Amino acid sequence: MSGRRKVGILISGRGSNMQALIKAAEDPAYAAEIAVVISNRADANGLEFAKARGIATEVTDHKAYASREAFDAALDQALKRHGVEFVACAGFMRIMTDGFVKAWRDRMINIHPSLLPAYKGLHTHERALADGARRHGCTVHLVRSDVDSGPIIAQARVPVLKTDTPETLAARVLDAEHKIYPKALALLASGAFRVEGEKIVPVSPGASLPIVVPALKD
Ligand code: GRF
Repeated sequence: MSGRRKVGILISGRGSNMQALIKAAEDPAYAAEIAVVISNRADANGLEFAKARGIATEVTDHKAYASREAFDAALDQALKRHGVEFVACAGFMRIMTDGFVKAWRDRMINIHPSLLPAYKGLHTHERALADGARRHGCTVHLVRSDVDSGPIIAQARVPVLKTDTPETLAARVLDAEHKIYPKALALLASGAFRVEGEKIVPVSPGASLPIVVPALKD
């Protein structure tokens, strides 16, 4: 019996972060195994990749449910059917009910394409460029009821270049997302931190958390 913890990934589309998590979990030494990928859209591209890697997939179509509560209850049941202990949201485009967020408190993470708390919400790359920001990046955080907020586990900073378009900036950030998300999930699944107040505190006294990439030097 391995001690790997079972993770469910929630997606709505492309699934490139999901791919990064699946690939990381193919290493038997990784702290988590991917038990299921669940999409709220049947046409999510990520589903094909997961199936091809032999991972269970499910579609829980939000349009089939009368309320957010009913949809979240179905999602919760699907996760439990697969024995999921931790949830990783990877481009999952649904607002969750407070009840669902509470049920998975400190066991559910999300990746967001900005250096939170800056640029919560959509169109982060356009907004960073419009502001003339020189730094941008991505964040993995525990999910709380307020959208794109919660204790931060990992962040990666990338430069904003004068020549950047939203697309080139998005690609640089996405590359960083694929690097930090597997690291953050491994920290969660291995019990490397506890949550005190709304901060991540490393269990091992020598460890430095949250992860900041590149390491802060200025
Ligand atoms: C990523 O930029 C992620 O940060 C955001 O949605 C996008 C999903 O992309 N939450 P993908 O589906 O993982 O390729």
